[in-house]
Amino acid sequence: MSDRPAVLFVCLGNICRSPLAEAAFRHVTGQAGFPVLADSAGTSGWHIGDPPDRRAQAVARKHGIDIGSYRGRRVSTGDFLSFTHIIALDRDNLESLHGVQPAGATAELRLLLDYVDGRAGQSVEDPYYGGPEGFDRVWDEVLAGAQGLLTRLMERP
Ligand code: 4NP
Repeated sequence: MSDRPAVLFVCLGNICRSPLAEAAFRHVTGQAGFPVLADSAGTSGWHIGDPPDRRAQAVARKHGIDIGSYRGRRVSTGDFLSFTHIIALDRDNLESLHGVQPAGATAELRLLLDYVDGRAGQSVEDPYYGGPEGFDRVWDEVLAGAQGLLTRLMERP
């Protein structure tokens, strides 16, 4: 168990939404000087070892963040013990996580937009099959989620 919040962001492929959520969370916590551990993973094994989608890398770069070294991985049962929070990007992946959650899991399991006023229970929709504007929307949503999560952690670690 970590001495600081350890947050794992989870989407389907771990190449679009969850790497951007990880990057946004690293960004806001770094700016606040609030120490955390952050990582991301996918519920599928489709992109293990892959870098983030080019469109995700482009939107991060637009905001001054390089995510080119991130690599896809699949969520594991051990993650439910080693992370304090596992944050799903959408409702389908939250359901998948509930399905693989082992007995004795200690991580708090939530949706990212639960931390955004007026967006509780909502999904960050999959931008994979759309155009680049979808990635701008994802960035805005993950940044708002990251800020809301940081605020919550600062109130109640
Ligand atoms: P992500 O997006 O879950 O936000 O990483 C996707 C990436 C890849 C696929 C689907 C969604 N795919 O079908 O390969």
